[in-house]
Amino acid sequence: MIRSHIVGCGAYLPGNPVSNAELARRVDTSDEWIQQRTGITQRYLAADGELTSDLALQAAQRALDHAGMKASDIDLIVLGTATPDETFPATATKVQAGLGMTRGAAFDVQAVCSGFVYGLSVADSMMKNSMAQTALVIGAETFSRILDWNDRTTCVLFGDGAGAVVLQAGQGQGTPADRGVLSNILHSDGRHHDLLYVDGGPSTTQKAGFLRMQGKEVFKHAVTNLADVVGESLAAAGLTTADVDWIVPHQANKRILDGTARKLGMSHEKIVVTVDKHANTSAASIPLALAEAVADGRIKRGQVVLMEAMGGGLTWGASVTRW
Ligand code: COA
Repeated sequence: MIRSHIVGCGAYLPGNPVSNAELARRVDTSDEWIQQRTGITQRYLAADGELTSDLALQAAQRALDHAGMKASDIDLIVLGTATPDETFPATATKVQAGLGMTRGAAFDVQAVCSGFVYGLSVADSMMKNSMAQTALVIGAETFSRILDWNDRTTCVLFGDGAGAVVLQAGQGQGTPADRGVLSNILHSDGRHHDLLYVDGGPSTTQKAGFLRMQGKEVFKHAVTNLADVVGESLAAAGLTTADVDWIVPHQANKRILDGTARKLGMSHEKIVVTVDKHANTSAASIPLALAEAVADGRIKRGQVVLMEAMGGGLTWGASVTRW
């Protein structure tokens, strides 16, 4: 059977890090509160005029370099973002043009913080249906543009960035021992819209709007939903928590990462954590964390890597890959 393999990773963080102490100069907050509640110490913010597509293009180019490939090798770009450059066209098409790629298809996936897991699932499914051979799956965000900087309950939590992987179709036996993407599980429940949303958009206010969140409620749903979907994705892959070498979660909050690991009975040492340095970069957080753990040699060939995320919608999902 066709199995898609991650053959390259790339990351891009804009500018210099902005520490909690720097943020506390313009927002009524403190380094102590942010670290205690979230584990975040700093975040990166895009410069004026630096767009989601600029970040995505950098990450995509780095993923291609890491894979030893050229843009002409790619026949699909799937970009997860909730902060597109424009209402349309898809930011993915700007990345396509930026790479000088003229064939194949490029489109965005909108699942907020679950955007990378959704994008990976879509690209993997297209490969399994022979609709693509080599894809870029990107998560890229400029959340700083949709933050209400007068709302300290949200603006301290997020950052900007982009991560990308190159996915290539290969062959497997259809067993849990295969290398490549072994399972994807996606969920959403639109009844929870009001827990995490942006109060604007083309059809409602004709303005981009600002992020609004009921943090405590989101927290409760996150731990339960993530533990459940991890179990489902492992069962679909024919594996158990004991088989997992690395958890690469969406990086929303250190307490959510710890709570989910505890609920699953998994060791904290298996979690790749970047939320301390990047804050919550929404769809970009998983590919940013992947790129870091691959570059520093933690993730090795043959190991089982579990990705999981939850975001506005609510949306959530998980993906199991043998590296
Ligand atoms: N700095 C200082 N104080 C702050 C603050 C900030 N940035 N933000 C809120 N506070 C204050 C509140 O005003 C409140 O004060 P009060 O008790 O005097 O009313 C106090 O801190 C506690 O606020 P609360 O909202 O109860 O804190 P919490 O423990 O629930 O933590 C979050 C808040 C947002 C960190 C937490 O709910 C969370 O992480 N939720 C999940 C959010 C998330 O990850 N979303 C993205 C999912 S993709």
